[in-house]
Amino acid sequence: MRPIVLWGPPASGKSTLSRALAQRLGRPRIDTDQELAERHDCTVGSLFERHREWGFRQLEHSLIRELMVRPDAPVIAVGGGSLLDRTVRHEVLERAWVLGLSVETTTLFARVCAEPNTRPLLQGPSEERVAALVAQRAEAYAECHATIHATGPLEEIVHAIEQALAQCEREDVVAVPLGSRTYRVHFAPIATLARRVASLSRAPSSVLAVTDRNVLAAPGVLGAIHSLTANEPVVLRGDGDEEKNLSTLSGIWDAALATEFDRHAVLAAIGGGVVTDLTGFAAATLLRGVRYVSAPTTVLAMADASVGGKTAIDHPLGKNLIGSFCQPSLVLCDVQTLATLSARERVAGLAEVAKIAAIGDAVLLDALEAQAERLRAGDPDALREVLVRAVGCKTRFVAQDEHESGIRAALNFGHTLGHAIELASGFSLLHGEAVALGMRAALGWGVRCGVTSPALQQRLDSLLTALGLPAHVPGGLDRAKIEAAIRRDKKRTTGEMTVILCDAPGSFCAHRCSFETLFAWL
Ligand code: GLY
Repeated sequence: MRPIVLWGPPASGKSTLSRALAQRLGRPRIDTDQELAERHDCTVGSLFERHREWGFRQLEHSLIRELMVRPDAPVIAVGGGSLLDRTVRHEVLERAWVLGLSVETTTLFARVCAEPNTRPLLQGPSEERVAALVAQRAEAYAECHATIHATGPLEEIVHAIEQALAQCEREDVVAVPLGSRTYRVHFAPIATLARRVASLSRAPSSVLAVTDRNVLAAPGVLGAIHSLTANEPVVLRGDGDEEKNLSTLSGIWDAALATEFDRHAVLAAIGGGVVTDLTGFAAATLLRGVRYVSAPTTVLAMADASVGGKTAIDHPLGKNLIGSFCQPSLVLCDVQTLATLSARERVAGLAEVAKIAAIGDAVLLDALEAQAERLRAGDPDALREVLVRAVGCKTRFVAQDEHESGIRAALNFGHTLGHAIELASGFSLLHGEAVALGMRAALGWGVRCGVTSPALQQRLDSLLTALGLPAHVPGGLDRAKIEAAIRRDKKRTTGEMTVILCDAPGSFCAHRCSFETLFAWL
């Protein structure tokens, strides 16, 4: 059970609502302001004065961190500024259900006036000051699992909160916290896609779906497209990299522009990594940017491609060389749609889950080892469990470094060589298979550099084998092709590359390496 955090501007009703909610749920309730006042035996105002805002926030943060691990999972009303610190806010998003309360400024102002001298930052308030405070914090307030409009009768708001909570739990919602571009990943039936798209914060003027021929056979997909839009979907011939080119992209542009497509329109990517990358890139470029939603239907797309906003097409000289960052507005993962994947494709997708576990999540690593057999057999419950965790872990990297100028590069573990192998194989290897081979090589490199212990290398190698991933390049390595591909990698700088190595379970380090050293290790 996770704690529940109510957060929003001062006077948005956090204290009152948390009391009513805790009573309904039979859980303890903590009001952080009240708790701090009691612990320090003074008012919040005098604590604020004594410690200044910075010191007061430190007190709030240590209290919040303590509450996150309480076994009785309380309902917590946090002070209106207590989650303004990104690091703390993101930690709380991972551990608790965070529900944002939104209330019109006029109402907030009226409530602040009715309780004078209780809010240190709103002394002598004016409606403009309240509005300015809310606007200044809007990006932070948007980072939550769900937003509840908190005006009206108390019972109705509490009911709305309970419904939102039930949805978070039922759908294992992961919030990808990117300020006002925050979106959520839901694990829920694809039949609900149309309803969710219709209730995006700006209703779409029209929707164009992009999918591929194989995906149309997956359970529920056809029905989902029909309820989503009357527009004929763009149907790609397949989900292979041969589709990920300018001509297919142009086909999506043409189809969109042939409809009543305007800037309020939405593209819906329903498919694997290729559909997701292409649709995202089409959304980034159409009319200088429209929204897109993603309903990934492969393990690879659920674990990796659909989250984080990397969109691209390939170039004859390399994979993903033309693209942009463009975040989706919503991600809906229905694990039932994985049922029609071939065993080979499903297993290949697990390579991305193993990658995330190896460099970012030791608990996920344990789960993969424990569930390897069920995962390999395509058990939907086991798949959902590891996918939810993988998405949560990937989100941590994306939230810290959306545009890959630092820590997000760790997600390229196994990809330096993986992309080169994939390209050199003429795409006869699936992306995940090539990444698995790349990871095995990176583990070997890690051992040579003294970064990866032989025991860890063996552990991860065994996991990849247990998941059914290949250990050898069929027909051997074409060194010349692989070297040429590595030299063109996006992540290179003159003569050198940063290679991601695994230095402990769920941990990584970046290692600068000359091409010559890298090639000598192949
Ligand atoms: N696929 C790696 C990333 O999204 O950064």
